[in-house]
Amino acid sequence: MKPFFLSPTTLLLYLLIGMVMLRSDNLRIAQAQTVHTLVSLHAAQPSTPGVAAAAETPRPHPVWTNGTAAPPASVASWLQNNPYAPVYIVTSRNTYQGIRGLADAAVARRDSTGMPLVIAETRADRLGEIGRYVHVSERRCGGYFAFPSRAQAEAFVRADRSQKAMTKSLLASYTLDNQATVNRWLPQVQEQRIYDTINHLSSYRNRYYASGFGKTSAEWIRTHWQSLAAGRSYVTTELFTACANCSTQPSVILTITGWDLPNEVVVLGAHLDSINANNRTDPNQLAPGADDDASGIATLTETLRIALSEGWRPRRTVKFMGYAAEEVGLRGSNAIAQSFRSSGVNVVGVLQLDMTNYKSGTGPDMNLIADYSNADLKNFSITLFDAYLAPMGLTRGSVTCGYACSDHASWTNAGYPAAMMFEAGGPNGSFPYIHTTSDTLATMGESAQHSVKFAQFALAYLAETAKSAPVRFTGGPAPVFRGGG
Ligand code: BES
Ligand code: ZN
Repeated sequence: MKPFFLSPTTLLLYLLIGMVMLRSDNLRIAQAQTVHTLVSLHAAQPSTPGVAAAAETPRPHPVWTNGTAAPPASVASWLQNNPYAPVYIVTSRNTYQGIRGLADAAVARRDSTGMPLVIAETRADRLGEIGRYVHVSERRCGGYFAFPSRAQAEAFVRADRSQKAMTKSLLASYTLDNQATVNRWLPQVQEQRIYDTINHLSSYRNRYYASGFGKTSAEWIRTHWQSLAAGRSYVTTELFTACANCSTQPSVILTITGWDLPNEVVVLGAHLDSINANNRTDPNQLAPGADDDASGIATLTETLRIALSEGWRPRRTVKFMGYAAEEVGLRGSNAIAQSFRSSGVNVVGVLQLDMTNYKSGTGPDMNLIADYSNADLKNFSITLFDAYLAPMGLTRGSVTCGYACSDHASWTNAGYPAAMMFEAGGPNGSFPYIHTTSDTLATMGESAQHSVKFAQFALAYLAETAKSAPVRFTGGPAPVFRGGG
């Protein structure tokens, strides 16, 4: 038999891994002690079975030995690529009750709306099972925010601004006075172009956040958006990489600088990643994600093409965003929303488009998401629909999505007004092939006809929130400047 030797390099590697595991165990022990203290302090409070009742006041949390709430860079990168790495999720108490075998060390919290939440520990390779379990067994979304450390999850819940984001009254300028622009734009939507973008994006093996395809597909979106802006000096694109747990996947941001109110920002977004719930941590997984959410990115792309083709310049600054790593806990959008909050960016409205191209049977053409959204922006979305889409014979409905089901939730948490328009789905609920190898154009009838309506909605939203021309606050129709405002 061949003797079994370890090379010095392998030995060193094992030693390093051992040290990291020891560190993460220590961290967990520290956290377990924190949880224990909370249980004994608050045992009298009503609580979910298995969830430690929690103090609503700030308390000390474990810190890494570098003195920060986040692991050091070397450890962080190791954790990123390790399928067994601990991940801390913030989810609703409802969802937690359904996934108890998949996450533990739970503590109860509430967000600023009073919503019962749970912070629990799981593993990177279990994130998919969580979503799948809730989708399949409870026929609803099982959303969560994901963090690399418990301290970050705690800080996120403590800083929650959802209550304010959902109720605050918005700008006087949520008005309908840009009909000339909208009516000029609506007939320009081309189904073929939307189809082509979905087709391109769903032809990557996946757009998984921790795979090479996830990176190159995001870079393609940036290049494609930049090409639509060719020759427009007031349009820039960037890759947003300041996301500690997005692996190598960047978010994409295209900015059209407003000519009049550049500090007021209108956001239109969709997530650019995809996932296969059966092979979640495999960088080679097959996850075409044609509906979820190539359709959203393609809808935004067509909206952008039409707005930029005629040299339109908005009064307000507009940002088109393709978010990284939504499918593993809204990571890209959360990083952007938090960074905007820290630097005081004034976002006046966010529209989220996540799944726009599936409809089967009768029923409304699109559904406004009722929860975790801003009341004024929802009403304004209804006004927009009734003014511009209803006259074309289209109908609307409303559905709830659940806690943290898509990226609008990141904006809501950060205190910004957000709304989401969602596809019609089928008589038995939403798209049956979500997060599978069958999320393709073929299972959506080889057509992009349903996304066309969403591009029209997005164009109406864009023209009426960002505006083209000065708005007279005293009432009356505003003049519209063609070709550059
Ligand atoms: N596109 C879905 C959200 C969705 C699915 C909305 C079905 C409505 C119906 C999104 O990409 C998603 O999969 N969200 C996860 C949560 C996320 C944080 C992992 C979900 O809903 O389980
Ligand atoms: Zn999804």
